[in-house]
Amino acid sequence: MKIAIINGPNLNLLGTREPEIYGSLTFEQYLANLKSNFPHVEFFYFQSNVEGELINEIQNCGFGFDGIILNPAGYTHTSVALGDAIAAIDTPVVEVHISNVAAREDFRKISHVSAKCAGTIAGLGLQGYELALEYFIRKS
Ligand code: DQA
Repeated sequence: MKIAIINGPNLNLLGTREPEIYGSLTFEQYLANLKSNFPHVEFFYFQSNVEGELINEIQNCGFGFDGIILNPAGYTHTSVALGDAIAAIDTPVVEVHISNVAAREDFRKISHVSAKCAGTIAGLGLQGYELALEYFIRKS
């Protein structure tokens, strides 16, 4: 099974970025754990702070993968083009947010990607990525 994890802007700073909201683990540390807990899954990981690079990668992973776990970060709330990219591909996408976006500022309650995704997980910390992975495993 081939799974892509795509993280948007500022998620490269996990571990030091607002740890009271996003926790103190880096994504690399979390991913190393995930890989060792799911040895049969082939992971591809991509992070970018650039909207167009995220779209390119969604397209690249959009036809040969079993699932994409996507945290579009701030672009969730602004990017029509990211939503369009998800609608244009075959691979199902699960949207993940580390924080509970529904409990934060009003602008975070708008998502341009949710309606194009199989589902959304928010507010469960980094565990959300693992739960999204479980969804793809059970579905396969
Ligand atoms: C986030 C929530 C977004 O509102 C925010 O802009 C992020 C991270 C999350 O994982 O909780 O950068 O996607």
